[in-house]
Amino acid sequence: MSVRIAVVKESTAGEKRVSATPETVKKFAGLGAEVAVESGAGSSASISDQAYADAGAKLGDRASVLKDADIILGVQGPDPDSLKGAKKGAWIVAGLNPFGERARVDAYAAAGFEALAMELMPRITRAQSMDILSSQSNLSGYKAVLDAASEYGRAFPMMMTAAGTVSAARVFIMGVGVAGLQAIATARRLGAQVSATDVRSATKEQIQSLGAKPIFVENVAGIEGEGSGGYATEMSPEYQKAQAELVSAHIAKQDIVITTALIPGRPAPRLISDAQIASMRPGSVIVDLAVEQGGNVEGAKAGEVVEIHGVKIVGHRNVPSRLAADTSALFSRNLFNFLSAFWDKDGGLPQLDDEIGGAIRLTQNGKVVNPRLLS
Ligand code: NAI
Repeated sequence: MSVRIAVVKESTAGEKRVSATPETVKKFAGLGAEVAVESGAGSSASISDQAYADAGAKLGDRASVLKDADIILGVQGPDPDSLKGAKKGAWIVAGLNPFGERARVDAYAAAGFEALAMELMPRITRAQSMDILSSQSNLSGYKAVLDAASEYGRAFPMMMTAAGTVSAARVFIMGVGVAGLQAIATARRLGAQVSATDVRSATKEQIQSLGAKPIFVENVAGIEGEGSGGYATEMSPEYQKAQAELVSAHIAKQDIVITTALIPGRPAPRLISDAQIASMRPGSVIVDLAVEQGGNVEGAKAGEVVEIHGVKIVGHRNVPSRLAADTSALFSRNLFNFLSAFWDKDGGLPQLDDEIGGAIRLTQNGKVVNPRLLS
């Protein structure tokens, strides 16, 4: 008996990524799995059906790939209605947005699926290669800088020309996690003058090591800002006030601001007010990567580029999908690294350990079982 894996075509509007590539299809086949890919699943990520077939996958319509599937892979959670015909006990392995899509989780449970939410992967060393948040944020940070550059009516690097000098753009990155670090590196490569801030004091050295200037609140109690798993915590009112003053003075001199700040399980912190936007030069650009989690920037709109006080505020949804070929390749490897780490050589479903299985498993035996959804 071999494990059967189904790769479904994404159905969420605007989602261009795919959860397996010919490379991972081959690797799964190497483990003894049979992989079936829904026709057209890779087309928006520049992967043809033929490329999957050449890698050893069977191609077919949704019903045929789901039939007898043990594991269903997705980038986002498939609509439960679209999974009719899949067998009870099948795994759904994808980014499932469990807090935002609770009704869908309940529907997976009711249908008897075992849903595994990859974004809940614990941040432990051995799970780094399985971490979809990191792999996708990295490329989002890169793309945010390119989006800013293309909206900006000036150049990034300093240029000395016969007609005179063009000065370097000043770029400020707020939130220096995975996306922010890549945004710093990318803006530096484009020749900008870069500064950055975060609430976690550990990021100060990382900012410096990338050649950017740290802008930090000093001398306020409790500024470590580090919660569990390397994530940020919500800051005290005293800290927030000091941060707002510091940032106000700095922002007025910036051409580009990229915000990436998130706090797990909470709305994104508000970092830029309308008054601060008004203090910027017309033609400046702000990219709010947290726009879908409530936004770091006042007035930012998900899915839109708006202009406020002459400043463009970019709020693209699903930024990873804007680089679908590369983000799909990394996402697919995250899924492969995860499943292969627990692979059962005798052809059964992978055997997850408690630390990882307990963190990411949402549903089992007809019930919602994840403690974070039950509390
Ligand atoms: P995230 O996406 O949750 O947040 C982005 C950044 O915003 C964080 O650096 C956070 O400190 C910052 N932030 C939150 N509130 C803020 C505020 N009010 N002002 C300014 N900045 C604010 O974080 P991400 O990118 O997922 O990573 C956080 C940490 O986790 C990093 O240190 C990263 O290296 C670590 N990490 C560890 C992994 C592992 O060990 N497996 C995997 C991935 C990341």
